[in-house]
Amino acid sequence: MTTDMSQRPPFDVEAVRGDFPILNRPLESGRHRKGKPPAFLDSGASAQKPQCVIDREREVEEQFFANAYRGVYYFGARVDEELEATRSGIAKFIGAESTDEIIFTSGTTMSLNLVARAWGGKFLEPGDEVLITEMEHHANIVPWQMACAERGATLRWLPLTEDRRLDMSRLDEFLTPKTKMLAVTSMSNVLGTINAISELARRAHDVGSLICVDAAQSVPHRMTDASGQHNEVEPVDFLAFSGHKLYGPTGVGVLYGRRDLLCEMNPFLGGGHMISQVYRDHSTWADPPAKFEAGTLPIVQAIALGAAVEYVSGLGLDRIHAHESQLLGYAHEQLATISGLTIYGPDLEHKGAICSFTIDGAAAEDLANLLDIRGVFVRHGHHCAMPLHEVLGVQASVRASFGVYNSCSDIDRLVDGLQFALERLIVAEK
Ligand code: ALA
Repeated sequence: MTTDMSQRPPFDVEAVRGDFPILNRPLESGRHRKGKPPAFLDSGASAQKPQCVIDREREVEEQFFANAYRGVYYFGARVDEELEATRSGIAKFIGAESTDEIIFTSGTTMSLNLVARAWGGKFLEPGDEVLITEMEHHANIVPWQMACAERGATLRWLPLTEDRRLDMSRLDEFLTPKTKMLAVTSMSNVLGTINAISELARRAHDVGSLICVDAAQSVPHRMTDASGQHNEVEPVDFLAFSGHKLYGPTGVGVLYGRRDLLCEMNPFLGGGHMISQVYRDHSTWADPPAKFEAGTLPIVQAIALGAAVEYVSGLGLDRIHAHESQLLGYAHEQLATISGLTIYGPDLEHKGAICSFTIDGAAAEDLANLLDIRGVFVRHGHHCAMPLHEVLGVQASVRASFGVYNSCSDIDRLVDGLQFALERLIVAEK
């Protein structure tokens, strides 16, 4: 397939890039990059923030900051109002039925730990199984290992196909009436593979299992429909994502949970306004979401996440998806011109805006360091997905991940940077 770059981009990328101050500042140091803007290709780790998000954080700090759900005075009431407006915007954005199903956490990792500990800690029994997949990243592996060890349950791993998709032909072997939870990513942070969440949810529900979706990578790129109400897809039971991959602040994330499940679960952490009553010998719990929001929330960050959601909604996820698909096609095509380069993951039709690769004879860390010299910023290593790298048969890869602000010129800079890196590495070897 040849990517037709004469096709009009779905939005004005230069104007979008103009919304992100950090991407328009020429780099200040380095002989090969000084004076150039960064080619930022690490949005899969953390995306940059548009001015409206930065302004929102500043507005809260400067105009009405106070603790949340505690004060009746003007600042406190305003904070509560803004947080609830954000909660409601997020519910709409991810297709939740009710704002009570939106819990503010510190990020995806905390959200997934919450489910594993607060749901798993109460409902997993010896002999039960939790099914994860070989493409999960550590935040959707380790909490389940901990919960299974604590409860005497068994953790199973759904394997991948040769083209690095979930092996759906073997799903019945792994997803059985013993399975109590299927914990799966909607988009791999290494391979970019997009998983068929609605089908997985239906198959999980058919055997009486719940499904918990790690949506950290997909939420910024594709429409999310947690309760299935918009697209008549199978609803999911839990869904986690982070603010900082969605052009919002760090330190804030979301757990969506089906209300009835949240009501049945134990709290995760204790303290603050997660209680109904505290007696000397025991306490009773507030209703969700407060039940899971112990302590002081990341107030400023949560409110600014609302601005990020509005920004992304304004661009439109369908247009974002179209833009990123064009970029991905161009990246695959251009990277293929480099000899010895292997891209991991399925074909373009089944993957999102992530391109992880290795180059024969070149260490991922060396490539990332040499790209940095040219102002091209990528992630390298195991990307918090060690078991997946074992399946791929490599210890580390280089990952370029794209966002709304990237253009083909960033990919050209990546390819030029790799040529530059390879020349340096060959000379160093001689
Ligand atoms: N999970 C994040 C990444 O893929 C940190 O980079």
